[in-house]
Amino acid sequence: MSRWKEPAPAKVNLALDILRRRPDGYHDLSMVMQSVSLCDTVIVEETPGGFALDTGGGFTPLAGRSMEQRTAEAFFSAIGRPMPGLRVTLEKRIPAYAGIGGGSADVAAFLRILRKVYCPSLSADALERIGLSIGSDVPFCVRGGTAYARGRGEILTPLPPLPDMCFVLCKPPFDIPTPTLFARADRLTLPRRPDIDGMTDAVRRGDFDAIAARLCNVFEDVLPPEFAEVFTVKERLLELGAKNAVMSGSGPTVCGMFRDADTAQAAADTLRERYPNTFTATPLPPLE
Ligand code: C5P
Repeated sequence: MSRWKEPAPAKVNLALDILRRRPDGYHDLSMVMQSVSLCDTVIVEETPGGFALDTGGGFTPLAGRSMEQRTAEAFFSAIGRPMPGLRVTLEKRIPAYAGIGGGSADVAAFLRILRKVYCPSLSADALERIGLSIGSDVPFCVRGGTAYARGRGEILTPLPPLPDMCFVLCKPPFDIPTPTLFARADRLTLPRRPDIDGMTDAVRRGDFDAIAARLCNVFEDVLPPEFAEVFTVKERLLELGAKNAVMSGSGPTVCGMFRDADTAQAAADTLRERYPNTFTATPLPPLE
């Protein structure tokens, strides 16, 4: 039986601004995104018929159609071929609902496998458009690397790789619903906006200190008080040697930026005693 395997790297948002609410209910964003070495593994096997997904508990039926099943349906409809039988296994390491793109990364890796196996001539743009029909962060996760992202997150301008650095990703023990945060951002005045141009310049210059100084996510300023532990984690990361730290996406994972891997590892070991979902990670180059 044929079997294909692909890494599914998480993403972090080094800067995230909300520009406006759109008539379709989504928001236009302006972001600097980076794929990182913390990753899931996606395994795909062709089977005689049907669709099965194993997210860690075996191939148990789900209540509705999973994101992966919708992804396969969208892919085969786009290339105009009937869908074969597929078994998809997700080896999860990225925490879910954490703001670091765990679900999007799996969908993106699945799409890269489907293109490789069933339609190598499909353009990167077309693959990313299929990804966007599943989730706003999927196009970036299909591509990976370092990028300036606009629109829902799908209008991507590649940026050069970051200078050498190490991240510590630490997820406090709660989930934050993304739509709730967008709704609060619509209601409240955003007190701080990221300097996106300054950030893209800093990335283009490979300037570690300037990148660290511009980490900024507007969602931090609209967090409901019950999620204040995000700020405790940020402070701990700074005490433990991070040059700076920022919440990624709609949280709650905080990303600390370190110049050297040993300091990052020691910080992660300390934080993990209290927060089991703590990881070190390095920036990755583009995946396609
Ligand atoms: O696209 P995705 O399904 O990942 O988005 C989840 C939710 O986040 C959307 O239903 C929407 O409420 C919000 N969202 C948004 N604008 C974006 C991305 C996400 O309002 N650019």
